[in-house]
Amino acid sequence: MGCDNRFYLRAYGCQMNLYEAGVVRKILAQRGFLETTEESEADLVLLLTCSVRRHAEQRAIGRLQNLQSLKRARPETILAVLGCMAQSRSTELANGLGADLVIGPDEYRRLPELIDAYRATGQCQVATRLGSECYEGVIPVNASQTTGMVTVMRGCDNYCAYCIVPYVRGRERSKSRQAVLAEAETLVRNGVKDITLVGQNVLAYRDGALDFGGLLRLADGLDGSPWIRFLTSHPKDVTREFASLLRELRNFCPHIHLPLQSGSDRILKAMNREYTRAEYLARIEWLRAALPEVSLTTDVLVGFPGETEDDYRQTLELVRETGFDFAYMFRYSERSGTAACRLEANVPEPVAAERLARLIEMQNAITRKRNQALVGRRVEVLVEECRGAEARARTRTNKVIVVKAALPVGVVREVTVMGIKGWTPVAESSEQGAVSSQ
Ligand code: SAH
Ligand code: SF4
Ligand code: F3S
Repeated sequence: MGCDNRFYLRAYGCQMNLYEAGVVRKILAQRGFLETTEESEADLVLLLTCSVRRHAEQRAIGRLQNLQSLKRARPETILAVLGCMAQSRSTELANGLGADLVIGPDEYRRLPELIDAYRATGQCQVATRLGSECYEGVIPVNASQTTGMVTVMRGCDNYCAYCIVPYVRGRERSKSRQAVLAEAETLVRNGVKDITLVGQNVLAYRDGALDFGGLLRLADGLDGSPWIRFLTSHPKDVTREFASLLRELRNFCPHIHLPLQSGSDRILKAMNREYTRAEYLARIEWLRAALPEVSLTTDVLVGFPGETEDDYRQTLELVRETGFDFAYMFRYSERSGTAACRLEANVPEPVAAERLARLIEMQNAITRKRNQALVGRRVEVLVEECRGAEARARTRTNKVIVVKAALPVGVVREVTVMGIKGWTPVAESSEQGAVSSQ
């Protein structure tokens, strides 16, 4: 392939895309491609796109438009659009928007072949078959020295009324336990100390008789005892048994992301979420009872069609009562093809914007307060980065902390939180004097 094999990759979207960026890097590396951080010197520019909200798509389209000047200057440059938007808007991307390769989430193994076909013909190549792909056997390139992800399942069968994911990612399917464990073992061998098992809904994991609880037990027993986390779990699938299983694990880190979306039963029903407000609160109770230290984070969506001021008030109340450690908050964005498109009574944009702003203000204060509560406490952290005399570290509860000490990346330490700056807890290393690496 000579020297025309440098690629530049940019990933948007959720943990799935971040993980799959590693899969794409591995597939390209196996074919002799080298990564560059300079877009202008790349022979292949890849955008790994997200379709979950209009804004995410617009960012990628804007990027692709900017890249047209690069293409004019160096016509041999290949512009590749991968990911969820490649799946949902392939025709536009191939025809009007100037992509040379359009490759959906299940077709990354074909990248080298599609590059060759494009080079041979100069014709845009589109690959958007969805199937049972889990990328078993592809051990992704992992950018971090300390943390890593392992996808355990892909796709989603839940069809929440607002969500495009089931359409762009296909049906739920799971990776074999052997493939999950082999990948996790490779991460540990490479020095990773913190592993997140990822999937659109990890609680839908199945490998024969093995469910996600069983898989977690296996991951918890890995040699080297890495910290274990998972993302995301659907509230409808959280059981009391699952909550108590978490208590028995040695290496599981007590942080659960449990997307709420709305605090109103009427809206939850219209969203097809399959739980009520009371059921959501019961799950929070089980988790807190099982894991007293647990940090809870969530996603909230405001302005869903038909959301009244009273529905919204119920969301605010639930968010206030629960006291989440952090929340991702969104304004509803209509996605074509989803069930919610057929609903009427859209919430006017300014109303939705104002609801979102009020919610964010309230949650920000709660986040600050939850972090403030750490002041004076000793917590165990994993050091992820160190610059000069300051380290950035993560607690088991998934909070980022600044430590005023030069600590080696990858060590686990006890630190004492002295205060907060903005929202970020600031700590001192509890062990004074020489620092030893573990
Ligand atoms: N599988 C994950 C969520 C994936 S999408 C889960 O079920 O939790 C991440 C978040 O984006 C969702 O939780 C939701 O809050 C938000 N989201 C999804 N579709 C959206 C839309 N059409 N408009 C605005 N936000 C949306
Ligand atoms: Fe989307 Fe719902 Fe599936 Fe999450 S569970 S990916 S919100 S359809
Ligand atoms: Fe976006 Fe696709 Fe993830 S739509 S949120 S990148 S699954």
